Amino acid sequence: MVASATEGVKISAAGLPMVAPPGGEPEIYSDRWELLWSAGVGKGQRWDCAAPSPSLVDLLKSGKVDAKGKRVFVPGCGRGYDLPVFRSAGASQVVGLELAPSAVREAQAHLQELGLPEADAAAIEMLSGDFFRWSSPQGPFDLGFDYTFGCAMHPSMRADWASTWAKSIKPGGTLVTLVFPINPDADPNVGPPFPISPALFRTLLEPAGFEVVSEAPVPAELSHPPRVGKEVLMVWRRK
Ligand SMILES: C[S@@+](CC[C@H](N)C(=O)[O-])C[C@H]1O[C@@H](n2cnc3c(N)ncnc32)[C@H](O)[C@@H]1O
Repeated sequence: MVASATEGVKISAAGLPMVAPPGGEPEIYSDRWELLWSAGVGKGQRWDCAAPSPSLVDLLKSGKVDAKGKRVFVPGCGRGYDLPVFRSAGASQVVGLELAPSAVREAQAHLQELGLPEADAAAIEMLSGDFFRWSSPQGPFDLGFDYTFGCAMHPSMRADWASTWAKSIKPGGTLVTLVFPINPDADPNVGPPFPISPALFRTLLEPAGFEVVSEAPVPAELSHPPRVGKEVLMVWRRK
C-alpha cells in the first residue's frame, strides 16, 4: 500500500528520499528507491522528465560520440527514456539497469508503449540489478551514460560509483556524464539530488581510470526547462 510503503521515509523538497544519517549503510539508502518507485513516480514527476535528454540527442547527432555498433550501458535509467536514443543512433545493444523493480516495470511499460520495430525492441534490454554488483555476461561496455545517477549517490558511495564505472567500460571506451545539478550555493551534503560539479567528477573519475575528452555547459535549449543553467556535458575516455 502506498501509505505504508513511504512511512518513515523523509522526502526532500525535490521529491526524493532523504539521505541516511551519516555513517548509514548504503544498502539502507539504496532501498529507498524502490519505496519511492512503488509509491508511484508518474511521467513528469520528481526527477522524471517524461522525455529523452535533448543534450544527449544532440551529442549523438553531432557525431562527437559515435554509438554505431556499440554496446551501451545506462544504469539508474529510471523509465528509460534515453535507451531508444542510443538505438536510434545505431547502437547494437542498449542495456538499462535499475535497482528498483518497480522502475524496471515502468520502463518496460514505457518501451512497450513506444511500439518500437522488433529489431529495435530486441536490442534494448531493461534489467533489474544493482550497479555495484551487476556485470554483463558479455563483458564491459563500449559506451556508458550517467544522468541523474551520479547525483543520486550518497557521498559515501561516490568512490565506488567511479570504480564501478571503470569496471563497466572497456579500455578505449567512452563514458558520457550529464552533470546535474550544478548548484554551488547548495549544501553538498543534502540530497538527493546531491549537488555535483565537473570538478567533483574529475576528482572521482580520473583516479578511477578516465580522462576528459570534452566538457561543455549545456545550452538552454538543450536542457529540460527546470534544469537550464545547471548542466554540463562531459565526455570521458576509459584509459
Ligand atoms: C534520480 S533517479 C534518476 C532516474 C533517471 N536517470 C532519470 O533521469 O529519470 C535515480 C535512479 O537511480 C536508481 N538507482 C539508485 N541506485 C542504484 C543502483 N545501485 N543500481 C541501479 N540503479 C540505481 C534509482 O532507482 C532511480 O531510479
